[in-house]
Amino acid sequence: MSADENSWWRSAVVYQVYPRSFADADGDGVGDLAGVTSRLDHIASLGADAVWLTPFQRSPQADHGYDVSDYLDVDPLFGTLGDFDALVGRAHDLGLRVLVDLVPNHCSSAHPLFQAALEAGPGSPERARFHFSPGRGHSGELPPNNWPSVFGGPAWSRVTEPDGQPGEWYLHLYAPEQPDWNWRHPATGVLLDEALRFWLDRGADGVRIDVAHGLFKADGLPDLADPDIEPMRLRGNVMACDQEEVHEVYRRWRRIADDFEPQRVLVGEVNLLPHRAARYVRPDELHQAFAFALLAAPWDAKAWRTAAAGLLEGAADTGSPVTWVVENHDVVRAPTRYGGGERGLARARAALLAVLALPGSAYVYQGQELGLPEVEVPVEARQDPAWLRSGVTRDGARVPIPWHPEPSGTHGFSAGGPGALPWLPVPTRTEADWGALSVDAQEGDPSSTLELTRAALRLRRRLHADGVVHPDDAATVCTMAGGLLQVERAGTLLAINMGDVAVGLPDGELLLSSGPLTRQGESRALPPDTAAWLRR
Ligand code: GLC
Repeated sequence: MSADENSWWRSAVVYQVYPRSFADADGDGVGDLAGVTSRLDHIASLGADAVWLTPFQRSPQADHGYDVSDYLDVDPLFGTLGDFDALVGRAHDLGLRVLVDLVPNHCSSAHPLFQAALEAGPGSPERARFHFSPGRGHSGELPPNNWPSVFGGPAWSRVTEPDGQPGEWYLHLYAPEQPDWNWRHPATGVLLDEALRFWLDRGADGVRIDVAHGLFKADGLPDLADPDIEPMRLRGNVMACDQEEVHEVYRRWRRIADDFEPQRVLVGEVNLLPHRAARYVRPDELHQAFAFALLAAPWDAKAWRTAAAGLLEGAADTGSPVTWVVENHDVVRAPTRYGGGERGLARARAALLAVLALPGSAYVYQGQELGLPEVEVPVEARQDPAWLRSGVTRDGARVPIPWHPEPSGTHGFSAGGPGALPWLPVPTRTEADWGALSVDAQEGDPSSTLELTRAALRLRRRLHADGVVHPDDAATVCTMAGGLLQVERAGTLLAINMGDVAVGLPDGELLLSSGPLTRQGESRALPPDTAAWLRR
């Protein structure tokens, strides 16, 4: 096997598909695998190397697929195993690799093993597969410890025992419909190993591991000294994540992945501070871990410098190039996060060019290539389980993709008739011009975000092919007066103007910019909120 086939991930651009919202082939209002297959050409036309599919396994959809009731099957909502095979076949024909989401921290409360645990009662071997515990207080009416759920409220729910009495509590770091596996039970590893092998055997080129820093909890599930932690982030619960035992799992999974030919890839959602996340990508563990520092950084040159420099240093230590990301299905879309309107869009375009120009790998979330803003989903239409519990909604980043500039309907998302409503409402023309943001509307327009994405990916490929840049390039990050951020690597320079006034364009041959340049006297200038990629 050529080195290339085993190291493609080091410089890969991976396109994240949220299947519910990508393309709906059967017209029921929810996207599906056949829909994804029918639109793979779009992803290939961008020049991406791979596709990551968020969960499509059997699930009651309490957390839109992150509550899995059967790891080894496709949910009928999304299609069949045959549809998955067809998707992989078509992707491979187009030169796209496929990553599948694996959710090992928890399952669905509808999982047969959890149902069996409920039925079997306290003290049973079935309950030992999860974290069941008697409550505190006089009659067990208080949760066993003070951990909050990531989605808000306590991380425990009380069950009604088979005799009809209120009984034990079970742990769920996320929604009550997502009971946590007990990873200290030997059968848990066996079950998840099987799930990993199943999708890799079936042709997946790798897996994205959900809540990869979770899995093991501190022995005895001790109280948190300060349970008042930031919602929507597990890392504040130091007792429930980043336990040493988890690394043994990834060493084992790495051996499984390496035994395949070509070798398969493991990317972890490791939402920890960079120095802790770096431990997950040691050479015998995961290949990649998303670099969340940039995703969390505000539009500020110093914040970006700190985040980028820390990540680049960490990569040099571990040998795993940085896995850049500025958008995914859990965060507010970049144009809105960076201030909204034209300014927010300009910044999001600059951020997109930046992650494609930095050394390493990058993940692009569906719709990021269209510059989609966050949608204000009407309260009554919100679906995110976090919404009711913590008041945070991730729905606005999950609205179906607009494909055609139709004045009404689903903008080409759904094959259904006019009566088939998408699972989340698509903005109408009066709210936001969703159609003007569609793929067909942007196609061929050189000023569009779609064509910027294609141009950046073409350029990136050419620079890699010509040996000008390499995923392991050392890079130096600095900030200049006026909020100019510069990242210098082997043969190129990335400059982002994060300040308020135009600055002179740094020396070099301009390869691509995220927006039009201006002039300062005789020379060219980089306006605010604009990035430029230069050859040195
Ligand atoms: C990850 C997913 C998120 C999900 C959570 C629980 O953070 O990205 O969407 O809700 O895990 O599985």
